Amino acid sequence: MTSYTLRNASPAKTRADAVVVGVVQGAKGVELAAGGDDVAKAYGRKLRPLLATLGVAGKPGEVVKVPTSGVLSTPLLVLVGLGKEPTPAAVRRAAGAAARAVTNSASVAVALPADTAELVRAATEGWILGGYTFTAYKKDAKRETPGEVVVLSPAARRKEVGAAFEQAQLVAGAVAATRDWVNTPPGDLTPPAFADAVVAAGKELSKGRGAPKVKVTVRDEHELAELGCGGILGVGQGSAAPPRLVELTYAPRGAKQHLALVGKGITFDSGGLTIKPAASMHEMKSDMAGAAAVVQATFAIAALGLPIKVSTFVPMAENMVSGGAVRPGDVLTMYGGTTVEVLNTDAEGRLVLGDALLRATESQPDVILDVATLTGHMVVALGDKVAGVMGSDEVVEQVLAAGRSAGEELWPMPIPEGMDERIHSSKVADLAQHDWVRWGGGLFAAAFLREFTAGLPWAHLDIAGPAFASGGPTGHVTAGGTGFAVTTLVEYARAMSAGS
Ligand code: BES
Ligand code: MN
Ligand code: ZN
Repeated sequence: MTSYTLRNASPAKTRADAVVVGVVQGAKGVELAAGGDDVAKAYGRKLRPLLATLGVAGKPGEVVKVPTSGVLSTPLLVLVGLGKEPTPAAVRRAAGAAARAVTNSASVAVALPADTAELVRAATEGWILGGYTFTAYKKDAKRETPGEVVVLSPAARRKEVGAAFEQAQLVAGAVAATRDWVNTPPGDLTPPAFADAVVAAGKELSKGRGAPKVKVTVRDEHELAELGCGGILGVGQGSAAPPRLVELTYAPRGAKQHLALVGKGITFDSGGLTIKPAASMHEMKSDMAGAAAVVQATFAIAALGLPIKVSTFVPMAENMVSGGAVRPGDVLTMYGGTTVEVLNTDAEGRLVLGDALLRATESQPDVILDVATLTGHMVVALGDKVAGVMGSDEVVEQVLAAGRSAGEELWPMPIPEGMDERIHSSKVADLAQHDWVRWGGGLFAAAFLREFTAGLPWAHLDIAGPAFASGGPTGHVTAGGTGFAVTTLVEYARAMSAGS
């Protein structure tokens, strides 16, 4: 376990094995960023030629290690690029890259720009998340992490800065827990196992006096049948592992606002009979990333003690191929009675979400947010780092604002009028789950989900791109599950509970 402390101290004099300092591409060339002034002073005129010799360019994510030979109290100086401006996003990213570079140091001082609460938060979150690893399935996992990390800030004694530092650790922990769930092999995280894991995590959180209380209810396949959740049951019927619906409630006394969260929890998406191509099917273990994110965001909101009620609905199913699997042409009766013709078993997310969304409306929330790895169309449109946001204009705006303050990239997408005709094109049922028109599939999906929102203020976050990093790490975002949306949801709840 790593211990984190926040301190107002000079990076040139702090005792540690390594000190991390930012490099910016300033008007007069490459220079050390705020936070590293004492280091610049200690090197004096030798600094410029040193940076030039090492070829330090200050590019975002660039990391250069320098032995200090007695110039500083630390034997190692780690220079990390911030680009042109040390924005919170740049600091978060740089801290993440640096965390991966100093695995052999027992103690580290982080001296990045950190004179505001926002920057301290970015440096802390970035550091913790950039150093994240998933080693549960490695035989010889012996990765070294520093035992002690000191974040240096000239504002360390300010109350709101100290609070931001504590909260950053808590939220980063929720993001890391989301990544763990996403990275867990699908055979080990079936719907029943996932539901059990949520129950266990909820118990852990609510343990002890004064701990936040989050109520967790698991509905099994029998209860789902009684409720008439035909979407969740239909998608899950091809799997040997039965589906679940997990419902969480955090209801602090005096809460005036009520937020409902819904997350897609397909623990593995083979596509079903409309089977997926082989090459990247293994990545479909990440199809429960929305579920993991809303659960961990709920826990984080509770742990932060935000004065807002949160009701969270998580449909969990495994989309498999078998003699009992749902067929194209089958009609499912959703929770609430709407019938849906299945035309593509790989468009399963909307089926489980339809049931869960309608249940969410019954808790009478002020706003509903759903988070889902819903469509490849959104990845084609926005790439693999940006989520699409659709729904009620006002809620979409609020989600985008929350994303900006959380340091996550989201972009608005429309639900064009023409989609209504397409989702009502079934000849046998109330709704068509799919059509074979190639264009606008992500928007079709959103229009379909909207049918189950009872006209309440709502936004849908399609995180199919940013939920999982297929390549290598970038900044604080490590390979595999990314934990995308957790910080945005927490920021959304924070803003909503503050009445802004
Ligand atoms: N889980 C997938 C979407 C997905 C694709 C997530 C790529 C992450 C990366 C979803 O269930 C799916 O298969 N969607 C289909 C929808 C289509 C059949 C309308 C898709 O994107 O092709
Ligand atoms: Mn699918
Ligand atoms: Zn899916």
